[in-house]
Amino acid sequence: KQKFRADYTAPPFTVTTVHLDFILGEETTDVTAKIHFVPNYGQLAAGAPPPPLVLDGRKDIKLLSVALGGRVLGEGEYEVSDKHLTIKAPPAGEFEAVIVTQLRPQDNSLLEGLYKSSGNFCTQCEAEGFRGITYFLDRPDVMAKYTTRMEADASLYPVLLGNGNLAESGQMEGGRHYAVWVDPYPKPCYLFALVAGKLAMKEREYTTGSGRKVALRIFVQEGNLGRVDHALDSLVKSMQWDEQVYGLEYDLDLFNIVAVDDFNMGAMENKSLNIFNSRLVLASPQTATDLDYSRIEGVVGHEYFHNWTGNRVTCRDWFQLTLKEGLTVFRDQEFSADMNSRPVKRIEDVMMLRSSQFTEDAGPMAHPIRPESYIKMDNFYTVTVYEKGSEVVRLYHTLLGAEGFRKGMDLYFQRHDGHAVTCDDFRAAMADANGVDLEALGRWYSQAGTPQLHVTTSYDAASRTYRLHCKQRTPPTPGQEEKLPVLIPIKMGLLGPDGSELPLKLQGADGSVQDLGTEGVLRFDTPEATFTFLEVPAEPVPSLLRGFSAPVKMELEGQSEQHLTFLLANDADAFNRWEAGQRLSRKLLLQLYAAAAAGGGAHSPQAVAERCAAAGGVPDNLVEAFRAVLTDPDLDGSFKSMAVMLPTGSELLDAIQGGDPPLLHHVRTWVVRQLAARLRPELEQLIKDNDDAPGTPYVFNAAACARRALKNRCLTMLSTLEEPGITAMLLRRFNEAANMTDEISALSALVELAGPERDQALQAFYDKFKGEPLVLLKWLGLQATSNAPGNLALVKSLVDHEAFNITNPNNCYSLFLGFGRSPVNFHAADGSGYQFMGDAVLRVDGINHQVAARMVSAFTTWRQYDTERQAMMRAQLERIVAHKGLSENVFEIASKSLK
Ligand code: ARG
Ligand code: ZN
Repeated sequence: KQKFRADYTAPPFTVTTVHLDFILGEETTDVTAKIHFVPNYGQLAAGAPPPPLVLDGRKDIKLLSVALGGRVLGEGEYEVSDKHLTIKAPPAGEFEAVIVTQLRPQDNSLLEGLYKSSGNFCTQCEAEGFRGITYFLDRPDVMAKYTTRMEADASLYPVLLGNGNLAESGQMEGGRHYAVWVDPYPKPCYLFALVAGKLAMKEREYTTGSGRKVALRIFVQEGNLGRVDHALDSLVKSMQWDEQVYGLEYDLDLFNIVAVDDFNMGAMENKSLNIFNSRLVLASPQTATDLDYSRIEGVVGHEYFHNWTGNRVTCRDWFQLTLKEGLTVFRDQEFSADMNSRPVKRIEDVMMLRSSQFTEDAGPMAHPIRPESYIKMDNFYTVTVYEKGSEVVRLYHTLLGAEGFRKGMDLYFQRHDGHAVTCDDFRAAMADANGVDLEALGRWYSQAGTPQLHVTTSYDAASRTYRLHCKQRTPPTPGQEEKLPVLIPIKMGLLGPDGSELPLKLQGADGSVQDLGTEGVLRFDTPEATFTFLEVPAEPVPSLLRGFSAPVKMELEGQSEQHLTFLLANDADAFNRWEAGQRLSRKLLLQLYAAAAAGGGAHSPQAVAERCAAAGGVPDNLVEAFRAVLTDPDLDGSFKSMAVMLPTGSELLDAIQGGDPPLLHHVRTWVVRQLAARLRPELEQLIKDNDDAPGTPYVFNAAACARRALKNRCLTMLSTLEEPGITAMLLRRFNEAANMTDEISALSALVELAGPERDQALQAFYDKFKGEPLVLLKWLGLQATSNAPGNLALVKSLVDHEAFNITNPNNCYSLFLGFGRSPVNFHAADGSGYQFMGDAVLRVDGINHQVAARMVSAFTTWRQYDTERQAMMRAQLERIVAHKGLSENVFEIASKSLK
């Protein structure tokens, strides 16, 4: 059941037009699809019949009839299986097929195809959901023009939406009504969408640069209309940004966004009818955090940007997914960087890449950004395809510069508008537009694994020459033993003893000297290379891989703590200042972990504290470096808040053989507590300085977010001291919080503490937000993720709580994935956390395969841990794989994890 990239062949038939007619009903929904097929099988041998027409389908759709060229087919003329409808002898030449299917959307708990959410009809067709609606060539290289007619009860479903423009609508007998939507742009079926329901709408008009007036509409459930302004603002900003940066305008008169509560992923870029998980649309200061606001801005941008990178130019096959996703993530990251703080956005993205993607790349599910095979495509909507894919697009941008990149994009659209293309086509457009050879970037698409970059330096005072010796190596990944070198752009500068940037005079292979100014990009694409800089007055401190110019793990041999402290204080590149701090803390945490783990045994927080203290504790230089950052008047508050944050547990576990997650957690917490104790005066001062005066209205902008981020980071650090006074202060702040950002921050700190304050706050929060499902996701998530010892009992009770709904993906993600992120309780030494998660995976798989597949991913890192945990996690995976009736989605991840 594996599909291979290498097996791609063009489809034997293509489709020019599709007319869909939906009779939406409470019991059943009938779909009539009139599909115009065109031969694509080429010249037939004399007298040979056309090949059979094999259409994709799903076992829960019922075929009522199939007709070709107006004639209803008899039983022997076609074959239906769980996955296909085969028309044995299609006529020669073009023909029209009329296929009638019957669906039960209200029973479709997979949330793929046509389903119901909160009583409304909606669809999700990417990757392969359209086959749950009708039998079709469900592949992205079949592009057709769609007309959608739908009819439904007018009082239950007053709003009827489709792709493109509304062509016709009207009342019918029996209280029903209908609408006809026509989409003038050819598209693959994964971009098809339909919505029918009772929805309120807010509208804004936008005028494009060339004067096209576009109606922007957001549809939500009645009570939520007051929470759509931020999404609307974000949409307008996205449209302006795409015009300014890429010269890309919207291409229809209407752009709709619909928010639904039950949605497997974040959002979907259906042509002119984006469907969003409601948590990525709805925001008010009282219900959404700064993080929610920024995610909404990013995802609204992401889906809007897909209109060009994804819809106008789409993917030839699903192996090319990163063509649209990597590129569109890159675009949304740059959009967010331009709207907010660029360095802070970069730091956030790199943190996430390191903690999730590097882990994926190091585990059994490692795959290149353009995978070679899959069982279920839905399993490949991964951090690798998306986030590493975006990093690879960034490599072009770094190598070509903003202007060269834009040239490449222009040529890409000029060549491929209206077509389904490949990652190679993208690279060719970038190369041809700039007259350069970019073949060296090709291996980033075919090799999995995170490249390791090893750098040593040498300075020769006599000749005033400075050298960087670079080596690279990519570790083997499953199915890919041998790796070849990749092109790593190393953006860099050299700092003089006073912190100033030195001019870079790079010596070429032929002896020529290239003047790079104070910042340059080295092209490193061989197993080893030496870069020589001339006229360097004194041994410099190198600042390498600025802005994280390639998704690699860099080790700089001999990089001392003095160098790191110096960079943290002086580097002109904000990202590398942060990075220097991360490297300092990472070194320390790994050392203390090793000390705490030595000799095994006592792993209580108490014992860990003793061992860490005995091993030297937190050195003064780190404390002083952080103090300097915190008190630097020129630094942005968000940056400060990230600078004092320690690397995540999952990032650190990547560097530990046979790691013990609870032990690491205790070490990390102990270090935070030491920092809090020693930086206490500064933390308290910053809280004062960044507290808003009572009555200050909430605004979402970089400056306001920075104040909240820094204040709340300081509070969270102080909370680890577990002093009654501090805890009381947290509880007071929780009770008096004027916005959700402050409220949830105080609550998360309280949830980590033992004592009555914890339960008191949780109860108060629940009582306050009982009627707010999106806010309750936070409430579920905080409790599930808590590292309070023995918290599993609470999590189990939440599964049966009236606030929890197992058929809703967001609920499962908050509770189960949240629990999977607790180093202490998911990884409890007795295996109880694993057992609970194994049970939950199997239960959810009976409802929704995609959600269960994401849950089972909690086990894929099993090889990172100690032998006892490995055995227990492995046993869960084996139990899951052996389960009868397991979905292909879960089977693929669980079985590949075991290999
Ligand atoms: N194209 C959507 C996005 O990135 C994601 C849809 C993924 N859906 C899925 N079932 N795999 O914006
Ligand atoms: Zn996307």
